[in-house]
Amino acid sequence: MRPKKVYLECFGCQMNAFDTEVLESMLEGEGFVISKDPSEADAILVNTCSVRENAERRAIGRLNDLSRHKGAVLAVCGCMAQRLGDRLFELVTALDIVAGPDSYAALPSAISAAVSGEGRKVLVEKDGSVTYRLRSVSGSSPSRYLSITRGCENYCSYCIVPYVRGTFRSKDACAVIEELGLLEASGTKEVTLLGQNVMAYRSEDCGFVDLLGRILEETDIERIRFLTTHPRDVDNGIFTLMAETDRICPHIHLPFQAGSDRILSIMNRGYTSSVYLDIIDRARALRPDIAFTTDIIVGFPGETEDDFEETLAMVEKVRFDSAFTFKYSPREGTKSAGLEDDVPVEVKKSRLETLNTTIQRIRMEIVAARIGSVEEILLDARVIKGEYQFLKGRTPHFRNVLVESENWNPGDTVSVVLRELSNFTFIGEEITGR
Ligand code: SAH
Ligand code: SF4
Ligand code: F3S
Repeated sequence: MRPKKVYLECFGCQMNAFDTEVLESMLEGEGFVISKDPSEADAILVNTCSVRENAERRAIGRLNDLSRHKGAVLAVCGCMAQRLGDRLFELVTALDIVAGPDSYAALPSAISAAVSGEGRKVLVEKDGSVTYRLRSVSGSSPSRYLSITRGCENYCSYCIVPYVRGTFRSKDACAVIEELGLLEASGTKEVTLLGQNVMAYRSEDCGFVDLLGRILEETDIERIRFLTTHPRDVDNGIFTLMAETDRICPHIHLPFQAGSDRILSIMNRGYTSSVYLDIIDRARALRPDIAFTTDIIVGFPGETEDDFEETLAMVEKVRFDSAFTFKYSPREGTKSAGLEDDVPVEVKKSRLETLNTTIQRIRMEIVAARIGSVEEILLDARVIKGEYQFLKGRTPHFRNVLVESENWNPGDTVSVVLRELSNFTFIGEEITGR
């Protein structure tokens, strides 16, 4: 019998991207072959996000689009699957399986059963102890993700994540080290440790900074990054480590969400703007060149023009390398969904534009100041732009670089001179290989 083919698509954050990799290896374990073409697949699996309304709208649109592959089993997993459960059968009539983020161990066999003709299934039981381990790694990639925590219990008032991802839990530290060993053996040079709030990591007496210490000692991973951090849990030890070793990359994604203390309090973020700025100062005192990136929401209920000005002021003070900016989107069941969504759409839109203009201006100032400097780049892929072939890589600060070279390959760490900018991407020039 020919092996069954499965096609996967992923929406949402890096944690979903990691889960999709885990699901791929589980499905291969179940005898499936991963296919890049939905039209030849026996099963189609879409991993989804619920964080804003338009994330769900897009996923439902895509699922209905994929429904035209009539012979294939259609399955949906991830945060939207958890949130909507069997309500999804009304929105996507061709759907066969709905599986939430704690049910992935049962998902490959459920997909197999559906391919053999079994009927609809809903797997949305929550289990706050589940963490997924990488058992095998397919292919070779210089840069990979690894989840070290799951869930979130911070209950920021606007956020759906705690409801769909469940209780906060940390992966056992020895398991993290073992998985890093697998990644290293497959050729991985850079790992980004993932969680909704990685600095809250705790496995027995091992906290996040201890875990980084173990990784530095027990693995040879060249570059270690992490995402996301919550200002409430920041530990100074992390900046000390960044000052001591270049293996911990000098970049932190530290969402601040809003500049107004009144709004931050209604958001239930647990810090004020001055506490946030204090973290930035402490970090830069220990390692002055740390690059900060952030997430910001505009148009939260009750946000006035003055509140928004405070958000702009934060951006000017911190000088972020870049930021993800969002219009507030009420999510059913969250605390802030009970507040009137009173900032008109046009105002949200214009605040977003003003904010993005400020962010881009500062970003350009930061990157333009690097022109002429020599940086260590980890090359991660080949890209073709028009008639030119480039290698693509990142600086330790997570800035993009393209470089032309006959001598280098993805996976190499090389020194380049940053010659010019194309949008926000540096064009680098080869100096020496390593
Ligand atoms: N755990 C991370 C964020 C995860 S969600 C943290 O706490 O920093 C990613 C981003 O989506 C959030 O930082 C926030 O800026 C945005 N977001 C979450 N819920 C939102 C909503 N209801 N409307 C608009 N943006 C939202
Ligand atoms: Fe959502 Fe807040 Fe948890 Fe981040 S920390 S996932 S914004 S509840
Ligand atoms: Fe979206 Fe779920 Fe990530 S809601 S942002 S995919 S944790």
